[in-house]
Amino acid sequence: LDNGLALKPTMGWLHWERFMCNIDCDTDPNNCISEHLYMQMADVMVKEGWKEAGYEYVCIDDCWPSHQRDAQGRLQADPKRFPGGIKKLADYIHSNGLKLGIYADVGDKTCAGYPGSLGYYEKDAQTFADWDVDLLKFDGCFMNRALLGEGYTNMSKALNNTGRPILYSCEWPLYEWPLKQPNYTAIRETCNHWRNFDDVFDSWSSVKSILDWTAAHQDIIVPAAGPGGWNDPDMLVIGNFGLSHNQQESQMALWAIMASPLLMSNDLRDICPRSKELLQNKRIIDISQDSMGKQGYRTAKGNNFEVWERPLSKNRLAVAVLNKLETGGPRGFNIGAAPGWKICGPQCNVTQILPQYKEMGVQTQQSKIIVSVNPSGTALLTVTPISSDFTRLHKLNWQG
Ligand code: GLA
Ligand code: GLA
Repeated sequence: LDNGLALKPTMGWLHWERFMCNIDCDTDPNNCISEHLYMQMADVMVKEGWKEAGYEYVCIDDCWPSHQRDAQGRLQADPKRFPGGIKKLADYIHSNGLKLGIYADVGDKTCAGYPGSLGYYEKDAQTFADWDVDLLKFDGCFMNRALLGEGYTNMSKALNNTGRPILYSCEWPLYEWPLKQPNYTAIRETCNHWRNFDDVFDSWSSVKSILDWTAAHQDIIVPAAGPGGWNDPDMLVIGNFGLSHNQQESQMALWAIMASPLLMSNDLRDICPRSKELLQNKRIIDISQDSMGKQGYRTAKGNNFEVWERPLSKNRLAVAVLNKLETGGPRGFNIGAAPGWKICGPQCNVTQILPQYKEMGVQTQQSKIIVSVNPSGTALLTVTPISSDFTRLHKLNWQG
């Protein structure tokens, strides 16, 4: 969507996978969906380096509103859980230099049964703008599938008409796939990112199923991605309970390769230092946020390994090698077998980022570099070609 937003994949935090629809503030005040949760996350994001690493949006998902609209037909936040209201919360988030996201639904009801926006697109867009909201996640439950396109397009226009820049996160294709192959040109013109597939859960099988779906549909979805519009494979679940550290590295590496929004759903108030270091890894974030904005894709698939590659600015390439086996120990992969390795001619400079940072120096197309990859883990590298022009120039300079 050409609204000047999401020129790079969105980075931030979104409550859903970790906190779901926990509205029980009486017995679980620290983890229920309330203004405190977002204020605390914002505090931690500023204090613990998240904001500095690039994570900017603090996003509310389902279960924030009251079950009734107000007398003017406007959505209102649950008064017990959001006593200050959303505008005050937005002010708080902004005073920390962060942005606030909110959630609504294109149909009659949200997925959790709260009021939907059908029939209220202009009113709800204006309400969100009046509250100084910066992002809208627009879900697709309780909607006639044949009317999804119309609904998502009308809300996009309504947001634009408010004059406030509001990043527009859609789930249009996810809900449309059972009906027909979505029109990704229209989706890209309408949304800043869009969910294609099932919700992520805190498990390796969930992350794997998302990767499999993405690879199976890459010829259709990859060309749609670029500055202003991105495929959204759903939240990062790094720092929770279900993924081993190697699997967390795989999610981080492949979400960067896929140019995905990096929306964490975890508890930043209590996160293991290794997960934090991974989520804040500057070299991986640089791949995610690469200025060329081209989405990577799976380039090779064997019995043991998958290779995913993302073209980067300055003719560089990011290469991820996923060890699919969930048995045994680390296995060696000859990086020369990656289809993209051909850019390493006559020479290239190789940096390994995962599983640990290592400068591998200047290599040639013939070099045999074996990277060691743990079961369900990923090795991530960048390859920078050294052109013959550059080599010649360098030699000339050297000779004075
Ligand atoms: C759907 C969405 C999720 C989440 C829930 C909330 O399942 O895909 O991301 O927003 O609804 O109810
Ligand atoms: C295939 C093609 C690639 C690229 C991707 C994304 O894998 O071989 O060149 O276009 O699809 O569509």
